Amino acid sequence: MRASGYELRRWSTPEELRRLTYSAYWNDEEAERDKEWWTQDGDFARMEAYVDETTTLGRQLADALADAPPRGEGADLAAGTLWAVPRLLAAGADKVYAVEYSEHRLTRLGPGVLEHYGVPPERVVLCLGSFYELGFADGELGFVLLSQALHHADDTAALLREVRRVLAPDGVAYVIGEPLPVRRGLLRRSRLVDPLLGDHLHTWRSYGRMFRSAGMRVAATREYRDGVAFVSREGR
Ligand SMILES: C[S@@+](CC[C@H](N)C(=O)[O-])C[C@H]1O[C@@H](n2cnc3c(N)ncnc32)[C@H](O)[C@@H]1O
Repeated sequence: MRASGYELRRWSTPEELRRLTYSAYWNDEEAERDKEWWTQDGDFARMEAYVDETTTLGRQLADALADAPPRGEGADLAAGTLWAVPRLLAAGADKVYAVEYSEHRLTRLGPGVLEHYGVPPERVVLCLGSFYELGFADGELGFVLLSQALHHADDTAALLREVRRVLAPDGVAYVIGEPLPVRRGLLRRSRLVDPLLGDHLHTWRSYGRMFRSAGMRVAATREYRDGVAFVSREGR
């Protein structure tokens, strides 16, 4: 199967995707039209301004990739509209598997972004499915990117365990675009701050615990004006 020339793999049925938490919001294509990510009208400047000026996302990714350049094949999990894919390839990745459960993002907005930045079809595979159940063998990937993604998980332990499972012994995980951690006393009883989008807040301590319990070693942590980023190097 292909989406605008890019290989598309369906890991989950539409019913399975509908059952996943917050998928109704992320599959609402109409709601997307007002966002920076809507590029179907040919306006890529709005998306670029969001990534590189309004937020520090672009800087966070560049810093993380400078720490440990991506090698071989890897995955962008909850890849959204795929803005990071051309940057991963430009930094040295051979191939990127873009995993998403939002069908219009993965099959329409994403391919538009890839075409705009001249990404050749053989260097990307689009995977429609959940980041909790990755269709990769153990140790298959050299790197994994989670951009504005970890804090969308209800079950961070399950997600990070799955990330570690698919990473090679010397693999790298880039976790960027996490909201600034809150102080323990300020954390409400529920970490879920947006029941529609699925945003959660965490403390520094809970981030540390999350990585440790998945057996991941954080090699770098950076704080930005609008978020935090982690680079984990397996070194198993
Ligand atoms: C805030 S967006 C981030 C998108 C992109 N990584 C970025 O940096 O712009 C969160 C993304 O997570 C995706 N998502 C949430 N839960 C998911 C899941 N269980 N499996 C796959 N994708 C998921 C949503 O569809 C959405 O595109």
